[in-house]
Amino acid sequence: MYRLVFSQVLRRFDAEAVHHLTVSALALLARLPLLKRLLHQAFAPHDPALRVSAFGVHFPGPLGLAAGFDKDAACAEAVASLGFGHVEVGTITAHAQPGNPRPRLFRLVPERAVINRMGFNNAGAVAADRRLRRTRGVPVVVGVNIGKTKVVPESEATADYVASARRLAPLADYLVVNVSSPNTPGLRNLQAVSLLRPLLTAVKEVADATPRRTPLLVKIAPDLADEDVDAVAELAVELGLDGIIATNTTIRHGGETGGLSGRPLKARSLEVLRRLRAKVGDRLTLVSAGGVEDADDVWERLLAGATLVQGYTGWIYGGPLWASRIHRQLSRRVRRHGMKSITEAIGRTS
Ligand SMILES: Cc1cc2nc3c(=O)[nH]c(=O)nc-3n(C[C@H](O)[C@H](O)[C@H](O)COP(=O)(O)O)c2cc1C
Repeated sequence: MYRLVFSQVLRRFDAEAVHHLTVSALALLARLPLLKRLLHQAFAPHDPALRVSAFGVHFPGPLGLAAGFDKDAACAEAVASLGFGHVEVGTITAHAQPGNPRPRLFRLVPERAVINRMGFNNAGAVAADRRLRRTRGVPVVVGVNIGKTKVVPESEATADYVASARRLAPLADYLVVNVSSPNTPGLRNLQAVSLLRPLLTAVKEVADATPRRTPLLVKIAPDLADEDVDAVAELAVELGLDGIIATNTTIRHGGETGGLSGRPLKARSLEVLRRLRAKVGDRLTLVSAGGVEDADDVWERLLAGATLVQGYTGWIYGGPLWASRIHRQLSRRVRRHGMKSITEAIGRTS
């Protein structure tokens, strides 16, 4: 049904217009408590065998929504009602900013991929703070992904991230330092250990000072050289971070300027996950994102050592109940393998 709606209707409209319409519809749903609760009962993962714990947070299922959809924390609880086990909101910057000029979001339908150069369009940390304080009505794990304000120079990047962290860490189930989006000039330079160390040290101090010590993760690009993946992993262990999210979008493609996500990213994302697992074992929580399309993909990431898995482009092509469907299939798979909990699959082939 969704395939038909997508091929006959949605793909004829500008991708960003469809995106904003979807966010608005979900933001409306977020304000309808009864419907939201009914959907949550019907589609959220409720099977105890799917529960996963990571860095002291309990997730109802391993598959969450990656950053970039709910940039302003407008509809996380509605997204959770459709079956996602967590929602990462953002990227949020300390100051509001409009992002890059349109068009900046492109579908590559035959490749099941998307290219975006949104550029962290968002209403800023103060607006996100207000939204994150609203009562939610249904249980939802919310990660908050923060990035650098475009006009802030690299030399002041740490202070900019710290400003966002001060506001948002107390409201987040976990906090993510995003240094890997390709659409803010110079942002990915911050992945160099010499720049990343002071940045993560400063943000961690803020995250550690919240009443319940907010877990801190760093999100990396798939385009890092293998030695640089290792270096970031070592740094994350050394600084006592809680985890790594791998990966963001790739700039290695021949299309429009921007980051590529979806199916073409699958192989490299899995490769980075395997490398991280080999390097850090279970000393960090690994969150795998990039090209996840179905339950087979989620399972493969878990076996390779991810505790949590995220998707975004797969949802665009898979339809509103994509995550709910995958969680149901994972439930069956856990039982088929004679497991009591999906956590038994984590790292099995690593
Ligand atoms: C339209 C779009 C916007 C995105 N915006 C962000 C963002 O603001 N911050 C971020 O960390 N990642 C962002 N991403 C990257 C995703 O979170 C994810 O890491 C990447 O798309 C790979 O997953 P996928 O192949 O399942 O989409 C964005 C991706 C897309 C498609």
